[in-house]
Amino acid sequence: MKLPAQQVAVLEAASADDPRRIEDLAADTEYPPETVAGAAFELEDAGLVAVTEETTDEVELTDEGREYAAEGLPEVRLYEAALEQGADEDAVQMGRVIGASGLEGPQVDIALSNYARKGYGSIDSGELTADPDADPDSDPEAAALTSLADGESVADSDVLGQLERRDLAVVRERTARSVQLTEAGVTELMAGVEASEQVGELTPEMLASGEWRDADFAEYNVEADAAEYQGGKVHVLRQAAERVKEVLVGMGFQEMEGPHVDADFYINDCLFMPQDHPARNHWDRFALSNPEKIGDLPADLVERVERAHREGVGDDGDGYHSPWDEDFARALALRGHTTSLTARYLSGMADEEVEAPARYFSVEKAYRNDTLDATHLLEFFQIEGWVLADDLSVRDLMGTFREFYGEFGIHDLQFKPTYNPYTEPSFELFGRHPETGELIEIGNSGIFRPEMLEPLDVEGDVMAWGLALERLLMLMTGFEDIRDVHGTLCDLDFLRDAEVVY
Ligand code: PHE
Repeated sequence: MKLPAQQVAVLEAASADDPRRIEDLAADTEYPPETVAGAAFELEDAGLVAVTEETTDEVELTDEGREYAAEGLPEVRLYEAALEQGADEDAVQMGRVIGASGLEGPQVDIALSNYARKGYGSIDSGELTADPDADPDSDPEAAALTSLADGESVADSDVLGQLERRDLAVVRERTARSVQLTEAGVTELMAGVEASEQVGELTPEMLASGEWRDADFAEYNVEADAAEYQGGKVHVLRQAAERVKEVLVGMGFQEMEGPHVDADFYINDCLFMPQDHPARNHWDRFALSNPEKIGDLPADLVERVERAHREGVGDDGDGYHSPWDEDFARALALRGHTTSLTARYLSGMADEEVEAPARYFSVEKAYRNDTLDATHLLEFFQIEGWVLADDLSVRDLMGTFREFYGEFGIHDLQFKPTYNPYTEPSFELFGRHPETGELIEIGNSGIFRPEMLEPLDVEGDVMAWGLALERLLMLMTGFEDIRDVHGTLCDLDFLRDAEVVY
């Protein structure tokens, strides 16, 4: 019988008595494992061998797991320190026990969150007790860590699961394939098998000589396992930003550009934000220390903005009667919203004449010193936009949002009246999360007040908004934590798979 060379090699290396692993056959035949596997499946189809599969769990400690295997679990170290401090008799101040334990940083939290769960004692109003009957030597997680560190296996799947949840161990499934000769295989081998001269590759020489006419070409195995390649791709948030730009350009908007660091004048004062506004004093903002101030501000614009703050505009306007200081307005900071760009463009400070009708947008970063959580980052992308026209109403604003979000398949929008110093009326915008069904805030908007527009010398009505790009993406793709798409905790599988469809 004639067979391709690699099949002959596998057949000859296989045994009828014991299944042999693909890796061992690969070592014997000097073919790569995937070639051996391919040959084995061909031989199995021909009934000459049997291929068996066995999946086993392979457990490996993470760096953290290895550290605790050597130094002890944080909760055990906390318990030992607690005993040392006499917490088995009387409750002891938590800080004292932590100090004595030598635990630092995140390990303190880890120790505290596992301490009571595992029965080492209780934690209550800053004090800690130790249960004298607890026994760290029979802590199943500690024992499992030691076994794994010594290369032994752990049978208790609950304990393994716990180690996995704590990121101390990873369990991987491995599939091992083995090959064994069948009776038919043994018979063929005894009758004699020969390598056929199969041609794997067509060469120019074969074409020129006409040799190809009589050649026996090997078949392609289109079912062979192939290595998976993960190439680079455009980040899904960037994809979303590009899509947003396309949509807005399609709606007749032009793009604005401007500095990430800007004077408070453009970030706040031009928006009729009073200088003694609480948000501006201990503002959750990132101030610049070098340079601390912008060089120059346009004197006539400064004068008009100052007057609006002090006296108001129009016949019945009253202003804030609050202090206004140009020096304060010159302070530099990372912009807390991209509405600073809107202020620059509307005031004519962006070297572009704006006259009604005009539509502008930007999809750019804004920076806030917020507390990090599932919906807040320290920097995020704002979709800023405004329309200047002769007669605008809330209906125009809402209609624009319906059109814009509709492009992304988002139709369930809700509006809630809110307050901004620079808009009247003002609306927060909400959308429904596709997975949790919760209403989440996706933006803020309104119609600019005369106190803002008059000093900037704008004639006509302006409706404007700042929308969060990350929240839009959240509604589109259903992720629940913004940290899945940004930074060190990001969800790589999500980022690899997620696509914004154009
Ligand atoms: N600047 C507002 C924010 O950051 C958004 C906004 C822009 C609201 C323009 C109204 C008008 O939340």
